[in-house]
Amino acid sequence: MQRYYEKVCAYMDYAHWDKSHIWHPFTQHQGARPAPLVTRAQGATLFLADGRTLIDGISSWWVNLHGHCHPYIVEALAAQAHKLEQVIFADFTHEEALGFTQALVPLLPPGLSRVFFSDNGSTAVEVALKMAIQYWYNLGTPKRKFVVLRGGYHGDTFGAMAVSARSPFSAAFAPLFFEVLAIDPPLRNADHRLALAQLDEHLNQHDDIAGFIYEPLVQGTAGMMMQDPHGLDLLLTRARQAGILCIADEVMTGFGRTGALFASSAMEEQPDIICLGKGLTAGMLPLSVTAAREFVFAAFLGASKERAFLHGHSFTANSLGCRVALASLELLLAESCRLARRSIEAAHQQFRAELLASPEGEFCSDVRVQGTILAVEIRTPEGTGYFNGLGETMAEFFVDGGVLLRPLGNIVYILPPYCITAAELGKAHGLIRQFLRGYFP
Ligand SMILES: Cc1ncc(COP(=O)(O)O)c(C=O)c1O
Repeated sequence: MQRYYEKVCAYMDYAHWDKSHIWHPFTQHQGARPAPLVTRAQGATLFLADGRTLIDGISSWWVNLHGHCHPYIVEALAAQAHKLEQVIFADFTHEEALGFTQALVPLLPPGLSRVFFSDNGSTAVEVALKMAIQYWYNLGTPKRKFVVLRGGYHGDTFGAMAVSARSPFSAAFAPLFFEVLAIDPPLRNADHRLALAQLDEHLNQHDDIAGFIYEPLVQGTAGMMMQDPHGLDLLLTRARQAGILCIADEVMTGFGRTGALFASSAMEEQPDIICLGKGLTAGMLPLSVTAAREFVFAAFLGASKERAFLHGHSFTANSLGCRVALASLELLLAESCRLARRSIEAAHQQFRAELLASPEGEFCSDVRVQGTILAVEIRTPEGTGYFNGLGETMAEFFVDGGVLLRPLGNIVYILPPYCITAAELGKAHGLIRQFLRGYFP
């Protein structure tokens, strides 16, 4: 079996097979260039079949925390695979879920002590929305609308799409979405009175709002749009006064990306429900978590089964995933990891200052940093947007230069694994400046 696999990888015309049989995500296959074949990865480096290497500047879609194939995580996974790989999680429990949640709960924003597992960021959000809706249903006061931040992204399943920004990505499905009430995100330098007034208007006009879902501190897919924590606090305070459930989607921001372990810790007001995914397992396996306060959980208790949260997935709380998530937390809590995150932030800040002081700074409408995330917004006649053609031009330039960056339209960002070296990060920063110099001679 092993030999057959090696033979296939060595001799197959992979590009032909990929083109003929594989359907890639977010991809227009007509006219698409062959996808590079990644054969292995180590640290921040991806190795391609044609001999090239790439520095993974986006943590492979924001999931990788400590570098690829980290030996500590690989070892934990291998040992777990010999012990218990998967078991039904309804009516049964296992040591890996217990151990991981014992480590996780004390780190979460205060009060989020009840943990529900699923498989990815979208399902973590789906679970949060269903929890919020059924919470009100169980209380006998049905409420089904959600307040959302404009430009938000929460995933690709139906509920998650409904609370995300309307865009060409979801246009075909829009008539099927439930009603949401949008307000402006509390971006840095924005006048927060406007968003507050919009929220007040929604609260006055609708008495059936179940919750407020938000990406705290950084709206990722929107273009790494960064917020003023005070502005978000104003909105959360108002939502809390109105008695609606606050749902923090920390699928991207969780596990140290924004500096602190969770972005929510930058705010005074803490969520009632939090969604976690991506970095939860350091990018090793798909696993996600939706954690709620005890009062939310209490609303599901009762004599009848109908009152329970009747939701689950085949791989809920997969034991390999839980074991790997615990290993990742151990690495995350080490002082060396905190220092690594601080070094990344310091390097981003230095790059920002140098870029803005250089002639290339002229071509940038904004350069922003939050923790380990850097975003450079490039001025173009088309303005800012995901479909700005500059994105693809840049992506090609960076890959040709040896760094995997996947710009969001005219916004190029770096969101690296925490193991990235100063030299590797310097190369990514340097390529951005090089692109600007070449593109705007
Ligand atoms: C904030 C946020 N929520 C949810 C999701 C969906 O996660 P997944 O792609 O794992 O379904 C994403 C994905 O980018 C995200 O950024």
